[in-house]
Amino acid sequence: MKSLIVFAHPNPNSFNYALVAAVEKKLRARGDEVRKRDLYSADFNPVLDSQQLAEVQQGRVPSDVAEEQHEVVWADNLIFIYPLWWFDRPALLKGWFDRVFTNGFAFAYEAGQLQGRLGSKRVMIVITTGGSEADFGADADQLCSSGTRATLSFCGVDQIIQKVFYAVPAVDDAARQAMLLELENLTETL
Ligand SMILES: Cc1cc2nc3c(=O)[nH]c(=O)nc-3n(C[C@H](O)[C@H](O)[C@H](O)COP(=O)(O)O)c2cc1C
Repeated sequence: MKSLIVFAHPNPNSFNYALVAAVEKKLRARGDEVRKRDLYSADFNPVLDSQQLAEVQQGRVPSDVAEEQHEVVWADNLIFIYPLWWFDRPALLKGWFDRVFTNGFAFAYEAGQLQGRLGSKRVMIVITTGGSEADFGADADQLCSSGTRATLSFCGVDQIIQKVFYAVPAVDDAARQAMLLELENLTETL
């Protein structure tokens, strides 16, 4: 299997990076080919500007977007790992979706009907939060992941597993180790 991990966190010493490492370790151990898109380190440009918008309407994409799309096509599994920032993805990752999941690539309208083009992908979404699960009320997982899930569902993805790790800054090291182990076990189900 081929797995692409897309992640967005500005601090290489963060817990998010530890989560990325845990997933990568587990995938490699079972023989997956793994590629990573570290959006901060790569200095990915998240701004969908007027030029790209015009190009997409003419069926073209900029070279940096084509590169990302090539990676998405390559992968059987797409894994997104990020901290919750204002109930959504960090802007850098949101911009990655804005620019990479273009009309004609991730979805298309055929005879007026929406066609998701990424239906063959299996997806895992991993999110960390500052707030506790109780802070988010009922359907906490749904609230934290709704933007990303909706984007992927729109593009035809129906095989999504997700995990939200709550209150990460407030828990002790033992709890973090347990989270890493839990994510390793979940990765096996991908
Ligand atoms: C700009 C910003 C917005 C945030 N918004 C939220 C939020 O909406 N809900 C929440 O529970 N935590 C929020 N947080 C806290 C982060 O989600 C939390 O610190 C992070 O997930 C912890 O993982 P890390 O140690 O890898 O950074 C926010 C943090 C920042 C910097």
